[in-house]
Amino acid sequence: MHTSERVNKIHVSPTMQVATEAKKMKAEGINVIDLSVGEPDFPTPHNIKEAAKKAIDENQTRYTINAGTIELRKAIAQKLKRDNHLDYSLSEIIVSNGAKQCVYNSILATVNESDEIIIPAPYWVSYPDMVSMANGKSVIIETKEADGFKLKPEQLESALTPKTKILILCNPSNPTGSAYTKSELESLAEVIKNKNVLVISDEIYEKLTYGDFKFVSFASISQEMKRRTILVNGVSKTYAMTGWRIGYNAGPEDIIEAINKIQSHSTSNASSVSQAAAIEALAGPQYVIGEMLEEFKLRQEYFHKELTSIKGISCYKPNGAFFLFPNVSHYFGKSTDVFKIAHSFDFAMHILYEAHIAAVPGSAFGAEGYMRFSYATSMENLKEAILRLKKALSMLS
Ligand SMILES: Cc1ncc(COP(=O)(O)O)c(C=O)c1O
Repeated sequence: MHTSERVNKIHVSPTMQVATEAKKMKAEGINVIDLSVGEPDFPTPHNIKEAAKKAIDENQTRYTINAGTIELRKAIAQKLKRDNHLDYSLSEIIVSNGAKQCVYNSILATVNESDEIIIPAPYWVSYPDMVSMANGKSVIIETKEADGFKLKPEQLESALTPKTKILILCNPSNPTGSAYTKSELESLAEVIKNKNVLVISDEIYEKLTYGDFKFVSFASISQEMKRRTILVNGVSKTYAMTGWRIGYNAGPEDIIEAINKIQSHSTSNASSVSQAAAIEALAGPQYVIGEMLEEFKLRQEYFHKELTSIKGISCYKPNGAFFLFPNVSHYFGKSTDVFKIAHSFDFAMHILYEAHIAAVPGSAFGAEGYMRFSYATSMENLKEAILRLKKALSMLS
């Protein structure tokens, strides 16, 4: 065996197994409706694409400063001020290849062997494996559907030990879509106020919230919390730019400097052309977000109503992101003539084979009993998916 212990400790995402099978079926000509996706189905707005074309024509095609161009970091600082009431200097901001790299860099820059990292479940699939790659120890806290899948202050309190280094908050959350109110964040901040704990606040779904919900960045809770927060955000979800790979960290200067060092020896700067596009995304007209949100809201309303009208399915109605996370455990123990559903992975396989719907089992997010359905697909697909789902579930007894 030539692979490292580091790699042997981590897992291939269970989401991949469903995705691989779905791809095979698609290649065979089967019309699979893909509700497993984690990206907006809209094109990148025109003005952003034009900014990228212009950057190419102007030969902005060389290395940039490792931490990102001055112009982009200025646009990020202005965005953080405008939207989040946060003041960051350019040396407190670094641009990386997507928010995923930002989370990983944040962990690598701060975690020592056997430090404890608190991760509320359901969690984004990559957090525990990233912690593992940094030789840290994930401490998973299960949140409850009845609490809107949000970490309660008393749960945080009882998970803290002298070894606790970081709390990772995903707000709004992938996979549940739930988002913390200001007062909920304040209660969590109160718990760690006198402890030496950092917070990685993954705010990549910041702009995707619905109704009257008002997003608050964890760093803006207080000056003390700002000093402990490594903020993660990016342009991928807000501006339908997942392929451009631009994310950013904002945080205390020493941590950003440490991330800069790591990045200088791994990937160097993010793509120069993508950085130019990201400036236009952050500083240009913002109305496209509203248009996308309206469409997501309609889909959420429709899909939530239809999904919860299916016998045995309950579903928390979240404030953010583009996922629903229904409880499907009613179907565990039920079977067709040939297949018995024991857990969420089986449920995912059943609906893939019988309804030709790809979705992700809750077990991938540390939450057995649930499924993650993305509504980042057309209304037409969602309507067809509901019909197929009803039929496939009616086969079970
Ligand atoms: C919670 C969360 N954080 C980070 C990311 C990574 O975003 P990016 O595509 O910018 O790397 C994702 C993408 O799925 C996500 O869901």
